Amino acid sequence: MTSPKSLRIAIIIASIREPRVAPDVVKYVTDAVSGTLTDSEHSITLTTIDLLDWTSLPSAPIGTLLPAHQPADNPSYSHAVVDKWSREIRAYDAYIFVTPQYNWSIPAPLKVGLDNLFHEWSRKPAMIVSYGSHGGDKAAAQLRQVLRGMRMLVQWEGVVMLPLGKGLESAIKGKLEEAVVDVWNETGKKEELVEGLKEMVEVLGRSPEELMKGEKEARERELAKREALKGSS
Ligand SMILES: Cc1cc2nc3c(=O)[nH]c(=O)nc-3n(C[C@H](O)[C@H](O)[C@H](O)COP(=O)(O)O)c2cc1C
Repeated sequence: MTSPKSLRIAIIIASIREPRVAPDVVKYVTDAVSGTLTDSEHSITLTTIDLLDWTSLPSAPIGTLLPAHQPADNPSYSHAVVDKWSREIRAYDAYIFVTPQYNWSIPAPLKVGLDNLFHEWSRKPAMIVSYGSHGGDKAAAQLRQVLRGMRMLVQWEGVVMLPLGKGLESAIKGKLEEAVVDVWNETGKKEELVEGLKEMVEVLGRSPEELMKGEKEARERELAKREALKGSS
């Protein structure tokens, strides 16, 4: 197994609301994981991608060629902003999606950002950080399904949920309360984030054969879980 030396990881801010609590949440995530994996084997660069800077992306893919049917190495989207978005996303090895829950789902601009491309995301590791009153579990589950549909490498362990709890009203006004951060710290959220990052880096170090085997095993585990659920209902 070879370990990648220099990794570029993008932290994607999914909320474009004004005001929004997202930048405070992203700061918490960035502070938690920064420097934790920089050792003799890995050097990690974290870059924030704010979807607020990408509101000019078309709200649906344009043209008769689906993003998934574009040539993987040399896509051409006949839309300047999508071409720029393609170059931006292609530049990273892995992604941390930081998403709020909106009506039990993810914000539309995140889906737009995903749907406009395919190969740029595909077969790369992803980690999901969701937040909402109870941690945004439904948004996280939906995003996980979307990412797996796009053949991204995201495991159950790669999901971290951050509950806003009593800090919801402040969050709606764009402020992350200290008391919320205290709860996250006390309940081991920093450690969960670091674990998630470690898992992503491990995935990056695996060969294509190992990744395919891992995916097959994960699929078999999911099918076995579904069968078990059917049996118990
Ligand atoms: C359209 C909309 C729908 C929402 N739906 C949910 C929800 O389903 N569950 C939840 O816990 N919070 C929900 N919220 C509250 C958000 O968790 C809260 O506004 C949070 O601050 C959103 O993150 P942001 O400020 O970064 O956009 C919703 C907020 C909006 C704007």
